[in-house]
Amino acid sequence: MKNRILELLKFDRESYISGEEICRILGVSRTAVWKHIQVLRDEGYKILSMPSKGYCLTAIPDRLYPEEIMSGLLTKSLGRDVRYFEIVDSTNNKAKELAGFKGLSHEAGLTAAEGMLVIAEEQTGGRGRLGRSWHAPYGKGIWMSVLLRPQVCLEIVYQMTMITAVAVMRAVREVCGIAPEIKWPNDLQYEGKKLCGILTEMSAEADRVNYIVVGIGINTASAGDLIPPQITHQMTSLSEITGKPVSRVKLVQEVLQELEACYDSWLAGGFPELLEEWKSHCNSLNRQVAVKTLHEVYTGWSMDVNSDGALLLKLDNGEIKKFVSGDVS
Ligand code: BTN
Repeated sequence: MKNRILELLKFDRESYISGEEICRILGVSRTAVWKHIQVLRDEGYKILSMPSKGYCLTAIPDRLYPEEIMSGLLTKSLGRDVRYFEIVDSTNNKAKELAGFKGLSHEAGLTAAEGMLVIAEEQTGGRGRLGRSWHAPYGKGIWMSVLLRPQVCLEIVYQMTMITAVAVMRAVREVCGIAPEIKWPNDLQYEGKKLCGILTEMSAEADRVNYIVVGIGINTASAGDLIPPQITHQMTSLSEITGKPVSRVKLVQEVLQELEACYDSWLAGGFPELLEEWKSHCNSLNRQVAVKTLHEVYTGWSMDVNSDGALLLKLDNGEIKKFVSGDVS
């Protein structure tokens, strides 16, 4: 009911709608309408009320509420079930918890369906690749995880990370009008500074995937207050780049739409085209680079990325070495 009242208020943002009309359209009492209006106000919606005119919505809070994300969202399954948290340890952890353990509770019908979105204003234990932490302060970015249940073999799951980088790159270009680059394996960068990180995790049995959780972190607010000072020089944010605030809701919607388009195309065998798009935006290829793994640093010429997403490096001694993880600089 609250969401239906919100829809009526949004229908014509400039003018008032009377309480009586809301009651008539939705078939509820004046008291019920008033209570829902109070809840919306508590959530941060600015709603004017005048005894003779009724209610008028004047401002929508900068929050990633499910009803805002789902309003006008053009997807079939991604983001059709939104689990919103103000504060959570990690949206990836939460998505895995809701996905069920090893697929068992899935069979018992207790688990979340493909497309579920977990999103939070803040993460207290945000995780990055290679066991690193991910700084995710309140309201300063998009911290989201999408649950997927593709029926694919394990070997190609890694491709999902590359596809996600393409989807986020397209979404940022569409909403913010800038063209970020992809740094292998899956960071989005702008002028050499990191804007977005992707952490893909999976649960699988010997020959089948139970689920994949695609975790995406996009820095939207200004870098000054977003990032611990010791790493400011490596990180940036969308508002720092564009000089304007970013509609996080719009960007989440666009990411979901692009991700669904890329995912559907991947399932239909479209990976070669997506890989070409990935490569055309990648700033880590055809150059002299250093690849830092957990134990060593290798230097050489970054020749290509294969269909597993592995980086092929021609070492200074002529040997060709394949990397599936690491940091390239
Ligand atoms: C990286 O660049 O190392 C990957 C960072 C991924 C961060 C996102 S934020 C949402 C999701 N939840 C997490 O705990 N991590 C990912």
